[in-house]
Amino acid sequence: MDQRIGLMGFGSYAPMRVMTNNDWSKLVDTDDAWITERTGIKERRFAAADETTLDLAAAAAEKALADAGMAATDLDEIIVATDTPEVYTPDTAAFLQDRLGAGEVTAFDLGGSGCAGFVLALDIARTRVMTGAKRILVVGVELISRLMDWNDRNTCVLFGDAAGAVVVGSGVVKAELLGAVSGTDGSRAGILTLETGGTRRPFTMEEAARRGQHAIVMNGREVFREAVRRMTAATEQLLGKIGRLKDEVALVIPHQANLRIIDAVRSRLGVAEERVFVNVDRFGNTGSASVPLALAQAREEGRIRAGDLVVLTAFGAGFHWSAAALQF
Ligand code: ACO
Repeated sequence: MDQRIGLMGFGSYAPMRVMTNNDWSKLVDTDDAWITERTGIKERRFAAADETTLDLAAAAAEKALADAGMAATDLDEIIVATDTPEVYTPDTAAFLQDRLGAGEVTAFDLGGSGCAGFVLALDIARTRVMTGAKRILVVGVELISRLMDWNDRNTCVLFGDAAGAVVVGSGVVKAELLGAVSGTDGSRAGILTLETGGTRRPFTMEEAARRGQHAIVMNGREVFREAVRRMTAATEQLLGKIGRLKDEVALVIPHQANLRIIDAVRSRLGVAEERVFVNVDRFGNTGSASVPLALAQAREEGRIRAGDLVVLTAFGAGFHWSAAALQF
């Protein structure tokens, strides 16, 4: 019997509303040329007023289940990676379990790991499958537009809303999960944070007046530097771990934060442009949703063929990084 552990189904969801750079230039002091030159982003999607994180997650999850030919009742576990949850407590995974009708299976969030959360969740799912759970739904979802400061041009133009999902299991898989690596440098936690609402800086009327709940603090240059260093190193470490060469990689799917970060990682790795998937121009930085959204789209767009070795690599607030290898 085929006992490979891997991905059995893929799905993604991006809201309908398109927000272009020109739309932003009407709201803050920015323009298309600045955003395009510094980030490569041309447009992003924003959730409708009546959509929540759960709606986005459920839409992607249903597609992944359909792609796997499964019902929600076939699942043994649900993991949701998000930094923009449905509510503060309980976690989004609990709501998703109920919405999908998955029964009383274990469901939990991986929160606070920024954009590296989904790939880390994949690795957790892989080890959970090894120890008993047969089929795990892994979702990366972000509804950042509702929790960011719409007046802060330093951050608001970077982000978009979306969700992506996969089913991880053992048996007949569409892509084998060959291995994963991850790491954290907590000494760099301060370069990308949203502090208000925790015990260090509780939410108060004063914070509300200051719009502190929207205060994403980001040292853009430091994040840029760490992102390039860590995504490159994670990819190299991963290839060493699974005993494969860079030349064997058919497609790298990096976290889509910024085209310049992606280009810098690509050039340090020495990988040709056509072997790196990019959709940041159309969706911006969708946090935990970025890698699974790109993965589902790469498949839909015919960028992945049978036999391809695909590498996912991500970084996020923490400072966290994670990478995983898929053999299609
Ligand atoms: N439009 C116009 N001007 C702007 C904008 C804007 N949207 N945003 C900032 N500026 C201005 C600033 O006010 C500043 O002006 P000043 O020099 O007069 O003070 C200037 O542009 C900043 O210029 P730089 O610091 O040179 O900008 P840089 O080239 O570093 O680009 C950017 C900034 C795009 C944020 C870059 O540093 C970056 O991409 N960093 C990584 C960000 C990132 O990926 N964050 C991750 C988010 S979460 C995650 O993925 C884990």
